Amino acid sequence: MTRSIAALFHTVPGGLGRVGQLKTEVPMVGLCAGFWKPAARARGRVHHAGVQKPAQQYRCRAKAHARSLVKPLARTERSPYDRGPWGCAIQTLSFPMPSTAQALYEPLNVPKLVAADLWVVDGSEIWFHFGVKVPFPTRMIIVRLPDGGLWLHSPVAPDPGLVARVKTLGPVRVLLAPNTLHYWWLADWAQLFPEAAVFAPLDLARTAKKTLPPHRALEDTPSPFWAGTIEQLIASGSIFTEIIFFHRPSRTLFLTDLIENFELSRVRSRWFRILLRMGGVVDPDGKAPIDMGLTFFGHRGELRNAVTKMLAWKPDRIILAHGRWYDRDGEHELKRAFRWVL
Ligand SMILES: [Fe+2]
Repeated sequence: MTRSIAALFHTVPGGLGRVGQLKTEVPMVGLCAGFWKPAARARGRVHHAGVQKPAQQYRCRAKAHARSLVKPLARTERSPYDRGPWGCAIQTLSFPMPSTAQALYEPLNVPKLVAADLWVVDGSEIWFHFGVKVPFPTRMIIVRLPDGGLWLHSPVAPDPGLVARVKTLGPVRVLLAPNTLHYWWLADWAQLFPEAAVFAPLDLARTAKKTLPPHRALEDTPSPFWAGTIEQLIASGSIFTEIIFFHRPSRTLFLTDLIENFELSRVRSRWFRILLRMGGVVDPDGKAPIDMGLTFFGHRGELRNAVTKMLAWKPDRIILAHGRWYDRDGEHELKRAFRWVL
């Protein structure tokens, strides 16, 4: 039941959405995602970009327009524009979407110092496909551990300049996917830094749409790599798992999708602004997207316990993966964002 409700609204890593060539992760308001997918399969219309039958090409103007604006999907990915008339109509509604749907947090691909041994890196925008295209800004967190090694949380696209800058900070010791949606570039970084230990949620190997590098499962207690410096706990919904981290030296909480906080002034597409308002993830009242909240419908007690533990850490700041992060009043922001569960 929860899964079916979630299917109405959310990008579920298990298959309601597909990720494009440069796209990854993230959820938000996925209206109708997955509705037409079974029907399309039944009609045998599920095929890949580049191998379409001529009669099926550009069945409506929206498709043609869409194909002219986006990069082709990898052959192993399904085109989001071949989802029948409903998909076509919804895609039409979502256009025009500028190539960069929002003003990103410049400068990009540069480690920005937040506190001693703590940086954030704002990366390129990423698009998630699940019927409609939804753009998200990306953000990586870097922590320098006491032994000098670097701990990379939710790696963004490995821009060559960024990789060079990261190398100047220290050896990359840990690469980490903090939830079951933020993993798209993990393999790329693992290839660049084969000596790094890779960590990911336990469920991710089952749901990932891209091959993961060999990795260890994130648990409810810190790995010896970062124990004593970074605390952690797991928040699991019915189809979504996120590992929450707390950097003790700087009293900074790291959340990924459990709070999203988009600044509407940065969003160029009015349709995306509507989606963000519907999802309840608008600055300054950012929180978990409504669809994600539904996946915790049967797990409110566990989530409440997780929030209680986060509050006990007394964070000063909260770094988020999407939108403006909170550089002060961490406890207050936690109580506000999770008031629906407390
Ligand atoms: Fe995300």
